[in-house]
Amino acid sequence: MTGTNHVLLLSCLLSRLASLFGSPADVEHQWALLGSCPSWHADPLKCTPNITIHEIQGIHQYSPYAGAAVAVAGVVTGIVDRSGFYMQDPQSDDDPRTSEGIYVYTHKAGLQAANVSVGDMVTVRGTVSEFRYDSAALPLTEIVTDMDQQGVTKCPGLFGPDSIIHPVSIGCHAGGPGERTPPLAVIKNDGLNDSLDIAEDGLDFYESLEGMLVAVKDPIAVGATDRFAAAWVVNNRGACSSGCNSRKGITAAPETNDFNPERIQLVTSSAIRRPSPFTVGDTVLEGQAEGIMSYGWDNFRLLLTKNITPESGGMQPTRNSIFVPEDRATHLTFGSYNIENFHISGERPSRIAKQIVENLGAPAVLALQEVQ
Ligand SMILES: *[C@@H]1O[C@H](CO)[C@@H](O)[C@H](O)[C@H]1NC(C)=O
Ligand SMILES: *[C@@H]1O[C@H](CO)[C@@H](O)[C@H](O)[C@H]1NC(C)=O
Ligand SMILES: *[C@@H]1O[C@H](CO)[C@@H](O)[C@H](O)[C@H]1NC(C)=O
Repeated sequence: MTGTNHVLLLSCLLSRLASLFGSPADVEHQWALLGSCPSWHADPLKCTPNITIHEIQGIHQYSPYAGAAVAVAGVVTGIVDRSGFYMQDPQSDDDPRTSEGIYVYTHKAGLQAANVSVGDMVTVRGTVSEFRYDSAALPLTEIVTDMDQQGVTKCPGLFGPDSIIHPVSIGCHAGGPGERTPPLAVIKNDGLNDSLDIAEDGLDFYESLEGMLVAVKDPIAVGATDRFAAAWVVNNRGACSSGCNSRKGITAAPETNDFNPERIQLVTSSAIRRPSPFTVGDTVLEGQAEGIMSYGWDNFRLLLTKNITPESGGMQPTRNSIFVPEDRATHLTFGSYNIENFHISGERPSRIAKQIVENLGAPAVLALQEVQ
């Protein structure tokens, strides 16, 4: 060990000891961190955290530390957009309600300056913020770094050798090692600010994973990919889901208060190549979908960090039979068609005309809906 490293180590140990006495509630964690000092190559003062991710995330939708200035450490798990990254604490607490992951909002310039890669151990200095893009949205907890002061410090060795982040699996065996099962019926049936009820409430279950690396086991698509490249799936090909139907979709049952919180939205991210579109009933070649549980556009959603390839489930569109009379002189046929927000432009009119002739059998009287 060089002289400089001795000085770094000493100041590391001293700063750790100082924080040990400063926060008696977290003695075990601080002691655990003490062990990692010798391998540091970075500035111990900038690397020393003063709070953990699970303390920031807490057991509510909103962080108890919103607005506080913090120094918090984690391992980079995903760079999924141009404005920041996700990181996770490899040393989790025993409470499944508190998430171990968080989004770090650096702005574009900050992300370039930080130059982090997945797997890097970092300490982030910034302000805890609850981001909501509209008043109906749930909050996404994030650390906002100050662009002027380099807010992200790379701290190799910070967590010692145990720094590999294993995804939490969403599967059928709750309580299995690292495995959790989502609630099947209730979206949310208590107050927004009550403590998280992850066994019963879908919104609370996903909040407890917010910012964490998650793998959905054996997903099957219960909806086709939409124009924002998002697809809805359930885990284990629906083996432990409720309401799967013969068309490989999933049906809500308001009469039994079953609104399918087990549906998980997979979305593409800048970390992967955009997957081919899913059709209902498709599974994935890789056997699981891995990504980071986040929140945006009014939904919890899994931002994919590994490429996936849909594997066809062979579902075909249904075709209803229609009655077409042989003698049109003595029979009158009626049809109705919702031509959805119709106005004359492009190829839509001829496509709709073709459907009226071929799929509807050219009814004599046709009622149209949504003509603008
Ligand atoms: C935690 O660290 C941040 C960033 O350095 C600092 O602004 C804040 O005052 C510290 N909080 C405590 C309680 O020490
Ligand atoms: C970014 O980090 C990599 C690996 O740590 C290093 O090789 C590279 O020089 C860095 N780039 C900049 C612009 O600092
Ligand atoms: C929940 O708590 C947040 C933050 O403390 C507050 O802004 C919000 O108004 C509360 N919502 C309800 C429904 O009490």
